[in-house]
Amino acid sequence: MKTVIITGANRGIGLAAARNLAGRGYDLILVCRNPTRGRAALETLHSPQSAGNHRLVVADLASLDSVRAAAAQIAETNVAISALVNNAACLPRRRTESRDGFELQLAVTHLAHFLLTHLLFPRLRSAPPPSRVITLSSAAHAGAAFNFRDPNFERRRYRRRRAYQQSKLANVLFTRALARRIGGTGVQAVALHPGVYDTGLLHDYIGGIPGGGAFRRLAANRAERAGPIVAELAAGKRGDDLNGQYLDRGVRAIPAKAARDQRAQERLWEWSAAATGLKSEEPGETGGSTNPRDERPVRGGGGGTDPGAHPLAT
Ligand SMILES: NC(=O)c1ccc[n+]([C@@H]2O[C@H](COP(=O)([O-])OP(=O)(O)OC[C@H]3O[C@@H](n4cnc5c(N)ncnc54)[C@H](OP(=O)(O)O)[C@@H]3O)[C@@H](O)[C@H]2O)c1
Repeated sequence: MKTVIITGANRGIGLAAARNLAGRGYDLILVCRNPTRGRAALETLHSPQSAGNHRLVVADLASLDSVRAAAAQIAETNVAISALVNNAACLPRRRTESRDGFELQLAVTHLAHFLLTHLLFPRLRSAPPPSRVITLSSAAHAGAAFNFRDPNFERRRYRRRRAYQQSKLANVLFTRALARRIGGTGVQAVALHPGVYDTGLLHDYIGGIPGGGAFRRLAANRAERAGPIVAELAAGKRGDDLNGQYLDRGVRAIPAKAARDQRAQERLWEWSAAATGLKSEEPGETGGSTNPRDERPVRGGGGGTDPGAHPLAT
């Protein structure tokens, strides 16, 4: 059986991809924060043509503890994972913090997926190659720089689109750093700009832009159309080695210069490992970790992997 995990799968592009994959005979694990919305999405996957063994895992990606609990729940199922689709994102109007004290977009869009990928990697590796980590980025990553001095918008004014761009840049930087670590394992890391679709997130993004009406017309593209693009990648249909690639609507593309900066990729990896508590999983270390922002302990450090055997150990 082939299993694909999709975060933020109860609406928009995530749900479109899940429905497409269910139609192709895949088993889906939907990671959603709201049980009612998650169950409603799950129900739409079952049809006479697709009687897959689909599951819902409830997790709030704004909490690293919740991400760890979700990973543990998935690991218990013992399934080999053909693809992990890191899709969920949010775009709050005002600066908001995650449970662990990080700026919410960075926490949900990047840190949660960084941690989830790490924790589920052994299950991805156990699937027949190629299995894939597909991280939804955006063309909006261009024009952003990752601000390592103030990643959480504490010292500069929060602007939601700027925070979104930074988090989407983080998606590409992460994919490239991950690709370097997993070459030859049978797992591929891919960053995807899916195109522009009329979803809740797009409305949050364009709300308030002068001329937004024209942009909205341009973007009157239903999320269902993104389903096959994500599903083709998740299904491993393309035989080419896509490890480390940035794809624009499924086509190889060159990401912005800031995303190609290897130093920034490695710096973000180190920062993210410390922020999510993965440093504490190195051999010989136990217990909590430190938050690179201010050395305050991050809640819920540590986790249940074997660091010695883990190719992603930092
Ligand atoms: N739409 C576009 O034009 C476009 C363009 C480029 C890139 N993208 C990327 O495509 C991906 C999907 O976007 P979309 O447009 O489909 O967005 P969407 O329709 O707004 O869906 C976002 C999903 O993320 C979930 N989510 C948000 N915060 C969460 C949290 N704390 N924990 C768990 N789940 C959470 C939402 O759940 P709730 O329903 O519970 O809020 C929802 O299921 C994003 O990564 C986005 O950056 C989209």
